[in-house]
Amino acid sequence: MEGLFDARVRLCIEPIGDPDPTALPPEEQALIAKAVPKRRREFAAGRLLARRMLGEFGVPDQPLLRGEHGAVPWPDGLQASISHCGPWVGVAMTDAPGISGVGLDIEFAKPLEEKYWHVILTEEDMCHLQSWPQQSRPRVAKRMFGAKEAAYKAQYPASGLFLPFSAMWISVNPGLTGFEATFRQHAAPWKIGDVLRGQFATLGDHVVTAVVSES
Ligand SMILES: CC(C)(COP(=O)(O)OP(=O)(O)OC[C@H]1O[C@@H](n2cnc3c(N)ncnc32)[C@H](O)[C@@H]1OP(=O)(O)O)[C@@H](O)C(=O)NCCC(=O)NCCS
Repeated sequence: MEGLFDARVRLCIEPIGDPDPTALPPEEQALIAKAVPKRRREFAAGRLLARRMLGEFGVPDQPLLRGEHGAVPWPDGLQASISHCGPWVGVAMTDAPGISGVGLDIEFAKPLEEKYWHVILTEEDMCHLQSWPQQSRPRVAKRMFGAKEAAYKAQYPASGLFLPFSAMWISVNPGLTGFEATFRQHAAPWKIGDVLRGQFATLGDHVVTAVVSES
């Protein structure tokens, strides 16, 4: 995972394991009171890892709540992102000035079946996909999906907007190590044509995607 984010961002990915949701502050426990056990475990793992990292950044312990559209309202001066998938939980966190958001996404590397492409991919995405050999396309499409989710998370703190999958199109580099996400709609401070850049890394049978936004 080294080099996935630049040196300003701390990244920690670890097994979800069997975290104890009752170790969370009551305000956080209330957020998952009605959740199924799997959701309680992944939520607790994310919050416990984020809390540990807050301590490393010298930030006082505090409940990590859920804001509008599901994003965590991070303490002032801090940007972070949580992702959980399969056995893994990850948190990326930074206090670097100038970074307006970070986006972390962990996904199974399993190719994205063609029947889902129309949900995720725009005309420009499809055009980009055509430039790949046919047999690579489902795998590249899955990268495009992760890229969109990570870019969405990274832009969210600055725009405060929920963006549909049609809001950006993705161009993946030939080595499958990085991508550009181009805005197809205005999402102030970004305008149509603005670009966020991101990186991919492989973690066993998962792909980890990282985006930093500076606005
Ligand atoms: C929010 C979303 C990106 C989460 O992705 P996911 O693969 O389902 O789940 P992950 O485990 O990777 O991420 C979940 C975490 O993302 C964070 N999150 C949720 N909404 C968020 C938002 N609006 N902004 C930033 N982070 C957000 C939360 O911390 C959440 O974990 P928690 O509920 O335990 O706190 C996804 O559910 C979604 O709504 N996608 C549609 C929007 C989108 O991707 N648009 C693409 C624009 S081109």
